[in-house]
Amino acid sequence: MKRFDSVDDVRALIAEWREAGGTVALAPTMGNLHKGHMSLVARAAGEADHVVVSVFVNPTQFGPNEDYEDYPRTLDVDARRLSRAGVDLLFAPSVETMYPDGVDVATTVNVPGLSDVLEGEHRPGHFEGVTSVVCRLFNICSPDVAVFGQKDYQQFVILRRMVADLQLPVRLVAGPTEREKNGLAMSSRNGYLDKDQQEMATAIYKSLQQAQTELLDGARAYTELEQFAEERITAAGLGPEYVAIREAEDFSMPGSSSTDLVVLAAARLGTVRLIDNLTVKL
Ligand code: PAF
Repeated sequence: MKRFDSVDDVRALIAEWREAGGTVALAPTMGNLHKGHMSLVARAAGEADHVVVSVFVNPTQFGPNEDYEDYPRTLDVDARRLSRAGVDLLFAPSVETMYPDGVDVATTVNVPGLSDVLEGEHRPGHFEGVTSVVCRLFNICSPDVAVFGQKDYQQFVILRRMVADLQLPVRLVAGPTEREKNGLAMSSRNGYLDKDQQEMATAIYKSLQQAQTELLDGARAYTELEQFAEERITAAGLGPEYVAIREAEDFSMPGSSSTDLVVLAAARLGTVRLIDNLTVKL
Protein backbone atom coordinates (compact mmCIF):
# COMPACT_ATOMS: atom_id res chain seq x y z
CA MET A 1 0.00 0.00 0.00
CA LYS A 2 1.22 3.50 -0.86
CA ARG A 3 0.82 6.17 1.78
CA PHE A 4 0.82 9.76 0.48
CA ASP A 5 0.17 13.15 1.98
CA SER A 6 0.64 15.18 -1.20
CA VAL A 7 -2.03 15.91 -3.79
CA ASP A 8 0.46 15.64 -6.67
CA ASP A 9 1.55 12.15 -5.62
CA VAL A 10 -2.06 11.00 -5.35
CA ARG A 11 -2.93 12.43 -8.76
CA ALA A 12 0.13 10.88 -10.42
CA LEU A 13 -0.60 7.38 -9.10
CA ILE A 14 -4.30 7.53 -9.95
CA ALA A 15 -3.42 8.79 -13.46
CA GLU A 16 -1.20 5.72 -13.89
CA TRP A 17 -4.04 3.41 -12.86
CA ARG A 18 -6.40 5.14 -15.24
CA GLU A 19 -3.98 4.93 -18.16
CA ALA A 20 -3.92 1.18 -17.60
CA GLY A 21 -7.73 1.14 -17.76
CA GLY A 22 -8.32 0.78 -14.00
CA THR A 23 -11.26 2.18 -12.06
CA VAL A 24 -11.02 3.84 -8.65
CA ALA A 25 -13.13 3.67 -5.49
CA LEU A 26 -12.66 6.13 -2.65
CA ALA A 27 -13.64 5.60 0.98
CA PRO A 28 -13.28 8.92 2.83
CA THR A 29 -12.74 8.59 6.59
CA MET A 30 -11.51 10.55 9.59
CA GLY A 31 -9.46 7.57 10.72
CA ASN A 32 -9.54 5.66 14.01
CA LEU A 33 -10.86 2.85 11.89
CA HIS A 34 -13.25 0.25 13.24
CA LYS A 35 -15.18 -2.65 11.72
CA GLY A 36 -17.71 -0.22 10.25
CA HIS A 37 -15.01 1.54 8.24
CA MET A 38 -13.47 -1.76 7.19
CA SER A 39 -16.80 -2.92 5.78
CA LEU A 40 -16.86 0.26 3.66
CA VAL A 41 -13.33 -0.53 2.49
CA ALA A 42 -14.43 -4.06 1.53
CA ARG A 43 -17.40 -2.60 -0.31
CA ALA A 44 -15.10 -0.17 -2.14
CA ALA A 45 -12.92 -3.10 -3.23
CA GLY A 46 -15.98 -4.76 -4.74
CA GLU A 47 -16.86 -1.63 -6.71
CA ALA A 48 -13.60 -0.81 -8.54
CA ASP A 49 -10.11 -2.06 -9.45
CA HIS A 50 -8.24 0.22 -7.03
CA VAL A 51 -9.16 1.39 -3.54
CA VAL A 52 -8.13 4.72 -2.06
CA VAL A 53 -8.88 5.47 1.58
CA SER A 54 -8.47 8.99 2.87
CA VAL A 55 -7.83 9.67 6.54
CA PHE A 56 -8.30 13.31 7.42
CA VAL A 57 -9.75 14.77 10.61
CA ASN A 58 -11.45 17.67 8.91
CA PRO A 59 -11.42 20.77 11.14
CA THR A 60 -14.17 22.58 9.22
CA GLN A 61 -16.86 20.07 10.14
CA PHE A 62 -16.34 20.45 13.90
CA GLY A 63 -18.14 23.18 15.85
CA PRO A 64 -16.18 25.44 18.23
CA ASN A 65 -17.20 23.37 21.27
CA GLU A 66 -16.79 19.97 19.62
CA ASP A 67 -14.09 17.34 19.90
CA TYR A 68 -11.74 18.34 17.04
CA GLU A 69 -8.65 18.53 19.27
CA ASP A 70 -9.50 15.31 21.13
CA TYR A 71 -10.72 13.32 18.13
CA PRO A 72 -8.75 10.03 18.20
CA ARG A 73 -5.84 10.06 15.73
CA THR A 74 -4.39 6.60 15.18
CA LEU A 75 -2.85 6.88 11.72
CA ASP A 76 -0.12 4.23 12.04
CA VAL A 77 -2.55 1.62 13.38
CA ASP A 78 -5.06 2.61 10.68
CA ALA A 79 -2.38 2.29 7.99
CA ARG A 80 -1.48 -1.25 9.08
CA ARG A 81 -5.12 -2.27 9.06
CA LEU A 82 -5.72 -0.78 5.60
CA SER A 83 -2.61 -2.39 4.22
CA ARG A 84 -3.71 -5.81 5.51
CA ALA A 85 -7.11 -5.22 3.89
CA GLY A 86 -5.44 -4.79 0.50
CA VAL A 87 -6.02 -1.04 0.09
CA ASP A 88 -3.87 0.41 -2.72
CA LEU A 89 -3.46 3.96 -1.48
CA LEU A 90 -3.84 5.75 1.84
CA PHE A 91 -4.16 9.51 1.42
CA ALA A 92 -3.52 11.24 4.74
CA PRO A 93 -3.10 14.95 4.03
CA SER A 94 -2.32 17.73 6.49
CA VAL A 95 -4.74 20.57 7.18
CA GLU A 96 -2.42 22.84 5.13
CA THR A 97 -2.68 20.53 2.14
CA MET A 98 -6.47 20.51 2.21
CA TYR A 99 -6.85 24.20 3.08
CA PRO A 100 -3.69 25.90 1.71
CA ASP A 101 -4.75 29.46 2.63
CA GLY A 102 -6.20 28.47 6.00
CA VAL A 103 -9.64 27.27 7.00
CA ASP A 104 -11.04 30.74 7.61
CA VAL A 105 -10.76 31.88 3.98
CA ALA A 106 -11.26 28.50 2.34
CA THR A 107 -13.76 28.15 -0.51
CA THR A 108 -16.82 26.34 0.76
CA VAL A 109 -19.47 24.13 -0.79
CA ASN A 110 -22.90 24.36 0.77
CA VAL A 111 -26.03 22.34 0.11
CA PRO A 112 -28.77 24.59 1.46
CA GLY A 113 -31.95 23.23 2.99
CA LEU A 114 -30.90 19.64 3.55
CA SER A 115 -27.88 20.85 5.55
CA ASP A 116 -29.92 23.07 7.84
CA VAL A 117 -32.29 20.54 9.41
CA LEU A 118 -31.87 17.76 12.01
CA GLU A 119 -28.09 17.37 12.54
CA GLY A 120 -27.61 20.74 10.82
CA GLU A 121 -29.82 22.45 13.37
CA HIS A 122 -27.80 21.03 16.25
CA ARG A 123 -24.41 21.35 14.57
CA PRO A 124 -24.47 24.60 12.57
CA GLY A 125 -21.88 24.60 9.78
CA HIS A 126 -21.15 20.88 10.16
CA PHE A 127 -22.42 19.79 6.77
CA GLU A 128 -20.81 22.72 4.98
CA GLY A 129 -17.54 21.42 6.40
CA VAL A 130 -18.34 17.91 5.18
CA THR A 131 -19.35 18.94 1.65
CA SER A 132 -16.39 21.31 1.39
CA VAL A 133 -13.89 18.59 2.23
CA VAL A 134 -15.56 15.77 0.29
CA CYS A 135 -15.72 17.96 -2.83
CA ARG A 136 -11.95 18.54 -2.47
CA LEU A 137 -11.33 14.81 -1.99
CA PHE A 138 -13.33 14.07 -5.14
CA ASN A 139 -11.32 16.65 -7.08
CA ILE A 140 -8.03 15.21 -5.84
CA CYS A 141 -8.85 11.51 -6.29
CA SER A 142 -11.35 11.65 -9.19
CA PRO A 143 -12.98 8.40 -8.03
CA ASP A 144 -15.51 6.52 -10.15
CA VAL A 145 -17.24 5.42 -6.95
CA ALA A 146 -17.21 6.74 -3.39
CA VAL A 147 -18.45 4.77 -0.38
CA PHE A 148 -19.98 6.29 2.77
CA GLY A 149 -21.64 4.77 5.82
CA GLN A 150 -25.38 4.75 6.19
CA LYS A 151 -24.87 5.58 9.86
CA ASP A 152 -24.38 9.17 8.73
CA TYR A 153 -27.64 9.05 6.80
CA GLN A 154 -28.14 12.79 6.45
CA GLN A 155 -24.55 13.22 5.29
CA PHE A 156 -25.16 10.68 2.53
CA VAL A 157 -28.33 12.41 1.32
CA ILE A 158 -26.56 15.78 1.28
CA LEU A 159 -23.55 14.40 -0.60
CA ARG A 160 -25.88 12.79 -3.13
CA ARG A 161 -27.49 16.19 -3.71
CA MET A 162 -24.08 17.87 -4.02
CA VAL A 163 -22.94 15.33 -6.61
CA ALA A 164 -26.13 15.76 -8.63
CA ASP A 165 -26.13 19.57 -8.40
CA LEU A 166 -22.44 20.03 -9.26
CA GLN A 167 -22.57 17.32 -11.97
CA LEU A 168 -19.68 15.49 -10.33
CA PRO A 169 -18.77 12.32 -12.24
CA VAL A 170 -18.84 9.98 -9.26
CA ARG A 171 -21.29 7.31 -8.14
CA LEU A 172 -22.09 7.21 -4.43
CA VAL A 173 -22.65 3.98 -2.56
CA ALA A 174 -23.99 3.69 1.01
CA GLY A 175 -22.65 0.85 3.15
CA PRO A 176 -24.93 -0.55 5.89
CA THR A 177 -24.36 0.43 9.53
CA GLU A 178 -22.20 -2.05 11.41
CA ARG A 179 -23.35 -2.71 14.96
CA GLU A 180 -21.91 -4.11 18.16
CA LYS A 181 -23.55 -7.34 19.38
CA ASN A 182 -25.79 -5.24 21.65
CA GLY A 183 -27.02 -3.17 18.68
CA LEU A 184 -24.99 -0.01 19.30
CA ALA A 185 -23.99 1.54 15.96
CA MET A 186 -20.21 1.46 15.56
CA SER A 187 -18.60 4.87 15.82
CA SER A 188 -15.18 6.22 16.71
CA ARG A 189 -16.94 8.20 19.43
CA ASN A 190 -18.02 4.96 21.18
CA GLY A 191 -14.43 4.84 22.41
CA TYR A 192 -15.29 7.76 24.72
CA LEU A 193 -17.87 5.54 26.51
CA ASP A 194 -17.16 3.09 29.32
CA LYS A 195 -18.74 -0.40 29.35
CA ASP A 196 -21.87 0.67 31.26
CA GLN A 197 -22.40 3.67 29.04
CA GLN A 198 -22.05 1.51 25.93
CA GLU A 199 -24.90 -0.63 27.28
CA MET A 200 -27.00 2.46 28.12
CA ALA A 201 -26.44 3.80 24.61
CA THR A 202 -28.24 0.81 23.09
CA ALA A 203 -31.47 2.60 24.06
CA ILE A 204 -31.04 4.67 20.89
CA TYR A 205 -31.11 1.65 18.59
CA LYS A 206 -33.86 -0.03 20.60
CA SER A 207 -36.09 3.03 20.39
CA LEU A 208 -35.47 3.27 16.63
CA GLN A 209 -36.32 -0.41 16.24
CA GLN A 210 -39.51 0.04 18.19
CA ALA A 211 -40.56 3.00 16.02
CA GLN A 212 -39.69 0.97 12.91
CA THR A 213 -41.82 -1.97 14.10
CA GLU A 214 -44.78 0.26 14.89
CA LEU A 215 -44.56 1.98 11.50
CA LEU A 216 -44.48 -1.41 9.80
CA ASP A 217 -47.51 -2.41 11.91
CA GLY A 218 -49.42 0.56 10.50
CA ALA A 219 -48.90 3.34 13.07
CA ARG A 220 -48.92 6.79 11.43
CA ALA A 221 -49.01 9.09 14.47
CA TYR A 222 -45.47 10.22 13.68
CA THR A 223 -45.17 12.86 16.42
CA GLU A 224 -46.38 10.44 19.06
CA LEU A 225 -43.93 7.78 17.90
CA GLU A 226 -41.09 10.33 18.02
CA GLN A 227 -42.06 11.39 21.55
CA PHE A 228 -42.31 7.81 22.71
CA ALA A 229 -38.84 7.06 21.35
CA GLU A 230 -37.41 10.17 23.04
CA GLU A 231 -38.97 9.13 26.35
CA ARG A 232 -37.41 5.70 26.07
CA ILE A 233 -34.00 7.26 25.43
CA THR A 234 -34.46 9.63 28.38
CA ALA A 235 -35.52 6.74 30.64
CA ALA A 236 -32.22 5.00 29.83
CA GLY A 237 -30.30 8.00 31.18
CA LEU A 238 -29.43 9.72 27.90
CA GLY A 239 -30.38 13.21 26.74
CA PRO A 240 -32.16 12.91 23.39
CA GLU A 241 -31.63 15.85 21.01
CA TYR A 242 -34.20 14.60 18.56
CA VAL A 243 -35.98 11.58 17.21
CA ALA A 244 -37.44 12.39 13.81
CA ILE A 245 -39.48 10.36 11.35
CA ARG A 246 -38.97 11.85 7.89
CA GLU A 247 -39.20 11.12 4.18
CA ALA A 248 -36.04 9.14 3.43
CA GLU A 249 -35.36 11.10 0.24
CA ASP A 250 -35.29 14.68 1.51
CA PHE A 251 -36.29 14.81 5.21
CA SER A 252 -39.65 16.44 4.52
CA MET A 253 -42.53 15.58 6.85
CA PRO A 254 -44.16 12.28 5.96
CA GLY A 255 -47.84 11.97 5.15
CA SER A 256 -50.32 9.13 5.44
CA SER A 257 -49.35 7.68 2.04
CA SER A 258 -45.57 7.85 2.51
CA THR A 259 -43.64 4.73 1.52
CA ASP A 260 -39.95 5.46 2.18
CA LEU A 261 -39.19 6.76 5.63
CA VAL A 262 -36.17 7.14 7.85
CA VAL A 263 -36.18 7.37 11.64
CA LEU A 264 -33.23 9.41 12.86
CA ALA A 265 -32.03 10.01 16.39
CA ALA A 266 -29.34 11.99 18.17
CA ALA A 267 -28.68 11.81 21.90
CA ARG A 268 -26.08 12.83 24.42
CA LEU A 269 -24.53 10.57 26.98
CA GLY A 270 -22.39 12.70 29.25
CA THR A 271 -20.28 14.75 26.89
CA VAL A 272 -20.58 12.25 24.03
CA ARG A 273 -23.01 12.83 21.19
CA LEU A 274 -24.33 9.75 19.38
CA ILE A 275 -26.47 9.39 16.24
CA ASP A 276 -28.23 6.47 14.58
CA ASN A 277 -31.00 5.82 12.09
CA LEU A 278 -33.13 3.12 10.50
CA THR A 279 -34.89 3.26 7.15
CA VAL A 280 -38.44 1.94 6.86
CA LYS A 281 -40.11 0.81 3.63
CA LEU A 282 -43.89 0.78 4.02
O1 PAF B 1 -18.17 10.45 7.66
C1 PAF B 1 -17.02 10.90 7.92
O2 PAF B 1 -16.18 10.25 8.54
C2 PAF B 1 -16.68 12.31 7.50
O3 PAF B 1 -17.77 13.16 7.63
C3 PAF B 1 -16.10 12.39 6.07
C4 PAF B 1 -17.11 11.93 5.04
C5 PAF B 1 -14.86 11.53 5.99
C6 PAF B 1 -15.72 13.83 5.74
O4 PAF B 1 -14.75 14.33 6.60
